Amino acid sequence: MTAAATAERRGHLLAVADLDAATLHGLLDAADAHKRDNTALGPRLEGAAAGLLLEKPSTRTRVSTEVAVGDLGGQAVTLSADELQLGRGESVADTARVLSRYLDVLCVRTMAHQRLVELTEAGSIPIVNLLSDEEHPLQALADLQTVRERCGELGGRTLAWVGDGNNVAASLMAAAAMAGMRVRLAWPGGYGLSSARLDAARTLADAHGGEVTIAMSPADAADGADVVATDVWASMGHEPEEHARRTAFEGYTVDQSLLSHAAPQAFVLHCLPAHRGEEITGEVIDGPRSAVWDEAANRLHTAAAVLAHFAPGALR
Ligand code: CP
Ligand code: NVA
Repeated sequence: MTAAATAERRGHLLAVADLDAATLHGLLDAADAHKRDNTALGPRLEGAAAGLLLEKPSTRTRVSTEVAVGDLGGQAVTLSADELQLGRGESVADTARVLSRYLDVLCVRTMAHQRLVELTEAGSIPIVNLLSDEEHPLQALADLQTVRERCGELGGRTLAWVGDGNNVAASLMAAAAMAGMRVRLAWPGGYGLSSARLDAARTLADAHGGEVTIAMSPADAADGADVVATDVWASMGHEPEEHARRTAFEGYTVDQSLLSHAAPQAFVLHCLPAHRGEEITGEVIDGPRSAVWDEAANRLHTAAAVLAHFAPGALR
């Protein structure tokens, strides 16, 4: 993303690149404060309404965002895209213009990242990405909050990504690089992130003392790592490829044998929902090295931090 494009999007959170390092750390501090006391961020949304527009299913993101809006004193309005006129062909631009007259912030889970960009262009309220085909920035914030809780400092810690080069990988790689972490990535050929994304993450890593490298194998990625992270092999929308992906990702399961390469205190992240026996074994996700339940819990606290930061309050 160009500097100009980032500047245009100031006030929106579509991608990790819309943050800078100070804002990233500030959001993690705010999330910690919310975790200690769910009134700590104040009634920042009092009198305000936050829309959640969902084009795909959600458990964690939907519930955590709705609860976070309530904690900040606001009203959450959850909209399923296929129940709106959007589902009958009303344009994204017209939808954005109208919703901007009712809402103070619009949080969107979409099939197409470009739709988020269109919403920022046509609407007049902040847009927050609740997952697109390209990024899942709120998940990355919850992941870093979880790492920070367990490791203290983020800078210099090693995070191994073993699995699909998907939306969750893209956001976590960028956020970890911005936090000065060493990121090692292992995926089967043809399932990695684009070289443009890798270059952008390396630029962030260079600026913040981190590193982004492609590993030779899952074991190479996990070697001495503090954190091993993964996600499903077939994301929402990729279900027709499930069978082919199961074959392609053979050897990429996060299991006890892979964890034996990691640091003794290493722990595992997975954004959930998980497919036990595919990208992660039941023994690992339900075992003592699993941080996934804290990670899921932290979705609430990071959502509150993001809304308190990006929602302007009652401006109607
Ligand atoms: N991790 C995550 O975004 O979960 P949901 O799809 O349930 O929101
Ligand atoms: N990569 C997954 C994440 C789900 C929270 C997907 O997009 O379906």
